[in-house]
Amino acid sequence: MSPLAIEATALTKIVQDATGSLTILDDINVSIAAGETVAIVGASGSGKSTLLGLLAGLDTPTTGNVKLFGEDLFSRDEDARAALRAAKVGFVFQSFQLLPHLTALENVLLPMELSGVAPDGQDPTAAARALLARVGLGERLSHYPKYLSGGEQQRVALARAFVGHPPLLLADEPTGSLDARTGEAVIDLMFELNRERGSTLVLVTHDLEIAARCGRRIELHAGRIQP
Ligand SMILES: Nc1ncnc2c1ncn2[C@@H]1O[C@H](COP(=O)(O)OP(=O)(O)O)[C@@H](O)[C@H]1O
Ligand SMILES: [Mg+2]
Repeated sequence: MSPLAIEATALTKIVQDATGSLTILDDINVSIAAGETVAIVGASGSGKSTLLGLLAGLDTPTTGNVKLFGEDLFSRDEDARAALRAAKVGFVFQSFQLLPHLTALENVLLPMELSGVAPDGQDPTAAARALLARVGLGERLSHYPKYLSGGEQQRVALARAFVGHPPLLLADEPTGSLDARTGEAVIDLMFELNRERGSTLVLVTHDLEIAARCGRRIELHAGRIQP
């Protein structure tokens, strides 16, 4: 197996709009070793979310390729890509993205139900309960998202991201919807879980203090990586 968690080669993303074609990402080359923590920073609109979506295979590039742990993401069909993502990637979004009609416990169970991947032979419900307790929500298992604060919702989302023991965590401005103090607690928890699990963390943020906690920083400017 490749020691690289991520190998993105010559990635471009070009979209068509009313005025013609718009280059959102331009010749992005990124290699991230397993176990690294990397911050992706850059102004709003510089392409950070688009890049993270490509690294997760949630979106397809116009040209170029991504390998996750040596496995080619875009040479496979959508189902196979989803399976690879389910096995390798946990994702945390700015807007939490919990399903409103599912309880905290059900939200955390969902990725394991979709992928059939339970962490090393563990009972999925036991694993989900344990992780929710770990993020401080052991008393909130049956709460629906609308009865949880923003910080609590993001902690549920962290539990959902980590529950399948993915070797790669991708987070897109995970504190962007939280006040400073709540955001700091969520970030602390995310770094803690990442360290415990030995996973690779790629974190989009425009908070330079948070970026400084990562081992390396990649800066995007208008769709290109700043040298
Ligand atoms: N599907 C799309 N169609 C047209 N423009 C898009 C699309 N997705 C993103 N963009 C544009 O690409 C640029 C980069 O977007 P994004 O990756 O969300 O930036 P960031 O996360 O750094 O704020 C923005 O100018 C955005 O408006
Ligand atoms: Mg963004």
